[in-house]
Amino acid sequence: MNRIEKAAINNPARRALQRLYEVPTLLKLAGGPLPPGAKAAELGCGPGYGTKLILDRFRAAHVDAVDLDPYMITKARRRLAREMHRVRLAVGDATDLRTAFGAADSSYEAVFDFAIIHHIPDWRSALTETARALKPGGLFVFEEVTAHALARPSYRLLFDHPTEDRFTAEQFLAELPRHGLAVRGSLTRIRGDYLLGAAVRSR
Ligand SMILES: C[S@@+](CC[C@H](N)C(=O)[O-])C[C@H]1O[C@@H](n2cnc3c(N)ncnc32)[C@H](O)[C@@H]1O
Repeated sequence: MNRIEKAAINNPARRALQRLYEVPTLLKLAGGPLPPGAKAAELGCGPGYGTKLILDRFRAAHVDAVDLDPYMITKARRRLAREMHRVRLAVGDATDLRTAFGAADSSYEAVFDFAIIHHIPDWRSALTETARALKPGGLFVFEEVTAHALARPSYRLLFDHPTEDRFTAEQFLAELPRHGLAVRGSLTRIRGDYLLGAAVRSR
């Protein structure tokens, strides 16, 4: 991520969007908070604001949150200082939760993707890892940025994303069942640019 995107992520406006729109929308799409005692993983946690919302609003009992960027994990560690009895943070790759946390197959009731999979060159491998790490019946909660958004001049000018093999909303949705993930109920689409939803790992 370049400096402009880092600033856009570490920002009160981003936090307000996540708190006031994204999480309430995802809670509806996911059918409400997680079951009591649920353990969740968060891919690309950035500065940890989403992690706090997973604890407080989705009511996860524990979150394993990973980010490739040590700077983000330092920020997250500061933000989550009072929650460290129920959070593990790791610098690592969202496509390898085994290395990051020793996560065995079927470890989590939920995996969260707040706008990160479009950053991963081999984005399908993040879905493979999500499905592996989810318990059967577990929930994949996603908010994604599509190729349509990434092709906009504003995105191309300001941010730095992989350019090859980005996905449209339809391509992302078509990939889910290949990993045993079935969309739960409805989806929220914003102008073909953003896709929010939840999918259940097959039993
Ligand atoms: C657009 S930011 C989103 C941050 C946060 N989830 C949010 O919604 O504010 C994408 C984050 O994903 C991280 N990231 C990119 N590729 C990653 C990978 N392969 N594994 C883990 N984190 C990654 C970046 O370092 C960055 O913090």
